[in-house]
Amino acid sequence: MNKVILYCRPGFEKECAAEITDKAAALEIFGFVRVKEHSGYIIFECYQHDEADRLLRKIPFADLIFARQMLLTGELLRDLPPEDRITPIIGMLTGAVNGAGDVRVEVPDTNESKELMKFCRKFTVPLRGALRAQKLLTPQEKANRPVIHVFFIAPGCCYVGYSYSNNNSPFYMGIPRLKFPTEAPSRSTLKLEEAFHVFIPSDEWDERLGSGMYAVDLGASPGGWTYQLVKRSMMVHAVDNGDMAASLMDTGQVIHHRADGFKFEPPRNNVYWLVCDMVEQPARVAQLAADWLVKGWCREAIINLKLPMKKRYEEVCQNLDLLRNSLKENSVYGEIHAKQLYHDREEVTVHIRRFWSAVPGRRDER
Ligand SMILES: C[S@@+](CC[C@H](N)C(=O)[O-])C[C@H]1O[C@@H](n2cnc3c(N)ncnc32)[C@H](O)[C@@H]1O
Repeated sequence: MNKVILYCRPGFEKECAAEITDKAAALEIFGFVRVKEHSGYIIFECYQHDEADRLLRKIPFADLIFARQMLLTGELLRDLPPEDRITPIIGMLTGAVNGAGDVRVEVPDTNESKELMKFCRKFTVPLRGALRAQKLLTPQEKANRPVIHVFFIAPGCCYVGYSYSNNNSPFYMGIPRLKFPTEAPSRSTLKLEEAFHVFIPSDEWDERLGSGMYAVDLGASPGGWTYQLVKRSMMVHAVDNGDMAASLMDTGQVIHHRADGFKFEPPRNNVYWLVCDMVEQPARVAQLAADWLVKGWCREAIINLKLPMKKRYEEVCQNLDLLRNSLKENSVYGEIHAKQLYHDREEVTVHIRRFWSAVPGRRDER
C-alpha cells in the first residue's frame, strides 16, 4: 500500500492536494497527487513503497486543514463480482492490517454517491462478519486499534485501506453528525458546535466550555454562535449592528452591543472565549484575533476566515503565519489549529489557545 487518500469538501481538492504535498515534502516524502475536481477526495501516491505508512504516522491529522480523513490504501479494486465482493477486499487487507478495531464502509461526500451510501450501509454487516472471521477485525469494537476503511467511489469499485485511530478523524466519512437545534436562530450555529467537537477534547469541555464563563461574539447577529455559548450557560457580549434573536435576549445571558467588532473592547477582564464570524477580509480577522490574544483579552478564540478568493490555500497559510508570528513576536505561547469543517463552505475555522505570555504586565492567566 503506497497511497494516501484524503477526503475533503468537494471543490477543495486542489487545496487539499497542495497542503499534503507541502507537508509531505517537509518530511522529505515525495510523490504525486491525483486530483479529480469535485470528487470529494484526492490520492497522494508516494514514490517509495513504505513512505505512505510513514506519512500516515508522521503528519498529525489535526494539522491538516482541508482533509476530513486520512488513510492508507493500495490499488483501486474494480469490477468486484456482485456475488462475492468480500474476498477481494479481504485479499487487500491480509498482511497489511491485523486486529483492526472498527470498519467503515464509506463514499465521497458528493450528490452522486448518495445512492451508493445505501448499499454501503447494507454491505457493512456481512463484511464485518467476514473480517472478524479472518481476525482482521477484533470481536468487539476497539477504539485504540486501526480502523479499516472501504471507500466506494462507484458501484463495484473501491479503495481498501486503514487509518490509525490516534491520528484520524473519529467520525464516519470524517463528518460529525450534528442535529440542527430548531430553537437556534441560524444554521451557522452548527459551525461553532462542530468547532467545539473538532478542537476541544470532550473530557475538557467542563473546564473550557463551562457554565458561568464570559464570551465575546463578534459579528453575532442573529445569534447562531451566541446560542451555542448560551446553551452552555455562558454570559455573552454579542457585538453586531444587526439584531439578536429575542429568544436569546430573553435568557438574560446576553448583552447586545451595536458596535464595530474591530473597535470593540471587552468590558471586563475575565473573558475566556472570543468567537468571530464577521464577513470580512481574512487578514483583518486574523490580526484582530491575534491582538485580542496578545493583549490577554481572551484565553481562547474561534474565528471563521471567509475564502471568496481564488488562491485559498495560500490565503489560509498567510493568515496562519500572521497569527503565529504575532503571538511569537509578543512572546505569547499558544497553539493554533485550522480546519475546514463540514459545516464550513467557502471558509475555514481557526482555533487559537493562549497558554502563557512571557511579557510581564499583561493580564494574569487564570
Ligand atoms: C455570517 S453573519 C454571522 C452569523 C452568526 N455567527 C450566527 O451564527 O448567527 C456575519 C455578521 O457579521 C456582522 N459584521 C460584519 N462586519 C462587522 C463589523 N465590523 N462589526 C460587527 N459586526 C460585523 C454582520 O452584521 C453579520 O451579522
